[in-house]
Amino acid sequence: MQSGKDAIYSQPLQQVEGFSFDQSVAQVFPDMIQRSVPGYNTIVDAIGQLCARYARDNSQIYDLGCSLGAVSLAAGRYVQAKDCKIIAVDNSEAMVERCKRHVQAYKSTTPVEVQCDDLQNIVIRQASSVVMNFTLQFIPPEQRQGIIQGIYDGLNPGGVLILSEKLSHSTQEGNALLVDLHHEFKRRNGYSELEISQKRSALEDVMLTDSFETHHQRLTQAGFCDIILWFKCFNFASLIAIKAK
Ligand SMILES: C[S@@+](CC[C@H](N)C(=O)[O-])C[C@H]1O[C@@H](n2cnc3c(N)ncnc32)[C@H](O)[C@@H]1O
Repeated sequence: MQSGKDAIYSQPLQQVEGFSFDQSVAQVFPDMIQRSVPGYNTIVDAIGQLCARYARDNSQIYDLGCSLGAVSLAAGRYVQAKDCKIIAVDNSEAMVERCKRHVQAYKSTTPVEVQCDDLQNIVIRQASSVVMNFTLQFIPPEQRQGIIQGIYDGLNPGGVLILSEKLSHSTQEGNALLVDLHHEFKRRNGYSELEISQKRSALEDVMLTDSFETHHQRLTQAGFCDIILWFKCFNFASLIAIKAK
């Protein structure tokens, strides 16, 4: 499937609108996310392996905010347990339409069902793993605890939530350092100062990041017994939260 180079913010805009996962973003999404998120490919592949490690026969794997289905496809590559299903959900029609085509193009022994819906409408059931790979940060903060609780309640004992997020850091100086290192990463991947600053403005009110401590507290409050920081690069991190057996 055709997928282009991200040049969405390359020209000066009169007014920078709030970021949305629309057709223009869906078209360039693989390029955008790989040039913007340090370690993205490593994270996705490792999540696929983690889904396989925790998968049990007759269980479900959820990919919430699936975009083009990278995590679902990685899980499909690795999961060996019998009678499992991968449920991929996104509320962007443009993403879901492309995701369905991606899924159809790859052969996976574990079926992937793609749903266009708000993840808050999804009741998690019989889950061995639930993945939110850079999705929770786009959910209004006051709704996050309820979502995490729903995931915890729908996980089987011993199941896991894999949560990747951009983090804010609690000290101003530390945060500025991490932001700067991330911008340098983007420059090295070919983004101009204009692209970096316009994208930053577009995301300002749309992507609200939490600190590691806030995530830890939220996950603990939901009932998770162990929270493992398994990936971190600059201000990007991925956690595994385990539900006790
Ligand atoms: C940064 S992308 C996620 C990337 C993707 N998980 C991956 O690994 O490639 C965030 C996605 O979350 C979706 N999203 C945001 N809010 C949502 C909601 N309330 N329900 C479902 N999907 C949502 C967006 O449409 C977007 O595709």
